[in-house]
Amino acid sequence: MLSIVTGAQFGDEGKGKLVDRMTADADIVVRYQGGDNAGHTVVAGGTEIKLRLVPSGVLHGKRLLIGPGVVFNPSVWAEEMEMLADAGVAPGPDRLGIDAKTSVLMPYHRELDRLQEEQREDAISTTKRGIGFAYQDKVGRDEIRVEHLVDPDRFGRQLERILPDRLDRVERMGGDPDAVREEVEEYRDLAADLAPHVTDVSREVHEALDDDRHVLVEGAQGTFLDVLHGTQKYVTSSHTTVGGACAALGVGPRRVDNSIGVLKAYITRVGSGPLPTGLEGETGDRLREQGDEFGTNTGRPRRCGWLDLPLARKAIRLNGYSALALTKLDILSGFDTVKVCTGYRADGTETAYPPETTRDLEQVEPVYEELPGWSADITAASSIDDLPDAALQYVEHVESELGVPVTAVSVGPDRDQTLFREQGLPGSDAP
Ligand code: IMP
Repeated sequence: MLSIVTGAQFGDEGKGKLVDRMTADADIVVRYQGGDNAGHTVVAGGTEIKLRLVPSGVLHGKRLLIGPGVVFNPSVWAEEMEMLADAGVAPGPDRLGIDAKTSVLMPYHRELDRLQEEQREDAISTTKRGIGFAYQDKVGRDEIRVEHLVDPDRFGRQLERILPDRLDRVERMGGDPDAVREEVEEYRDLAADLAPHVTDVSREVHEALDDDRHVLVEGAQGTFLDVLHGTQKYVTSSHTTVGGACAALGVGPRRVDNSIGVLKAYITRVGSGPLPTGLEGETGDRLREQGDEFGTNTGRPRRCGWLDLPLARKAIRLNGYSALALTKLDILSGFDTVKVCTGYRADGTETAYPPETTRDLEQVEPVYEELPGWSADITAASSIDDLPDAALQYVEHVESELGVPVTAVSVGPDRDQTLFREQGLPGSDAP
């Protein structure tokens, strides 16, 4: 069985927690795009782990894979492995495989990203992890891959060909080429640790599917940060949708059994770009504080707003979701009323679906429906029936507006604070 989980908004929807929960019923968990711009938090039994590259299923002892669509910073990976070793859960080569064709995110990518962001008049507000520059080199066919990094001779030859130009660029943009060169040299020390992890991810995925094993694929970022279908130019540089997962893993769409969208009960965005329901002032601050909406990696405060159904409708189309998980419902507790954006007003007309261009999306005015709030703390709910009527009504309202079943509801950060509706999440044994 193949299940793909992606973010239905702008990232930070709580995918890590859901994937961690679903891993109990999976055999393999795969990361397919992005890099250490992602920050996935998993909490189990009070232990909190913040991941950047290793798939969120790490706490379960299952096989974990990093696919060739990822841009892989080996020094971040090495730090992460150390942190996991300290927590007693570091995956050895038998548990963590990294595709040979994965692009290596080089120190010059990171430096160029930083310099460009500082110098752009209209910054994208990237995470400054070098993501866009690493993908540029992949598409430009000037990448260094994991297969090169683990072979000192091939790594040396690739560097001879590529490095002088990149160091020139760093210097021209006012950076320090010597510091970058030094960091590049440090990568050589990581080859021996990385080598035993190298694998063919597409082959492993297909063999597992042929054996009727369950492969769970974990997206990073979110649908509207997709490099094709997002809010250009305020997007990341990879394909964040379910179709992107098929391309990145080399599996045809007909093999996909479950496409699961993770939708936060409100919306957040970090970095620049339109957010039609974004709230300034007291309500936005309250969502940010209650929801602890600060970047996992960067600490940046996230913009917050009410749930945007037009964007969710589009995310459902772009991904072909068969089920939704509604996360962080507990953060809405305590509001007298809660709002949902059901449509937009633009040029004197109302529409239930977002306009295509970023510029037009920047102009829309949200149309809200107001629903009753609930005051009870719902974090201790152990079943969907424990929810107050108004909270359940909120879930049902979202479901009927979107036409896709909401089969899981999350009411807190811990693995156990996930409530399943009757039909359960596809690809998961619960309830
Ligand atoms: P980049 O991926 O670092 O190039 O950043 C491009 C845009 O994507 C910026 O607006 C970032 O804030 C956003 N972004 C990248 N990764 C994440 C994430 O994991 N969560 C939320 N936003 C992200």
